[in-house]
Amino acid sequence: MIREVLRMGDARLWRRANPVTTFGTDALAGLVTDLWDTMAARGGVGIAAPQIGVELRVVVFGFDASERYPDAPPVPRTVLLNPLIRPTGVHEESDWEGCLSVPGLRGRVSRWTEIEYEGVDIDGAIVRRTASGFHARVVQHECDHLDGILYPLRITDLHHFGYADVLFPNGLPVEE
Ligand code: NI
Repeated sequence: MIREVLRMGDARLWRRANPVTTFGTDALAGLVTDLWDTMAARGGVGIAAPQIGVELRVVVFGFDASERYPDAPPVPRTVLLNPLIRPTGVHEESDWEGCLSVPGLRGRVSRWTEIEYEGVDIDGAIVRRTASGFHARVVQHECDHLDGILYPLRITDLHHFGYADVLFPNGLPVEE
């Protein structure tokens, strides 16, 4: 079911979400379905449970190929619960981000270039991967939502924050 996406200003987006402690339930399956449906309806590449008002540490992200964003490298479609991230290198890179909770805007955010992330799937089975570049950026963006962090909080130079149609008159970078 497509759910309403909370927008920046809603105090629920600033909260730290709770770990999932029970796996394999119908309620969890329903939540994950709603996250995929809502992400697809809004053309995003990822979404976190707090964005639909559910205070659990659940994110979904990824796509095989995006018609809207043909230049975006594919990211494996992933359901990740109780995720942890650590950088595996020293490099960070700055690039444009958008967010379904901050519609119409884009900002430049610095993220670790190479990471390892770990969590569990809906049945509690371990998911562990390394990621770099765009994939790593999407994971960091989505997991920030679980700690009540929206990307504008990470913009260090607000000159690089603005309306997407003004910044990118020829087409938009992705929304997460
Ligand atoms: Ni977001």
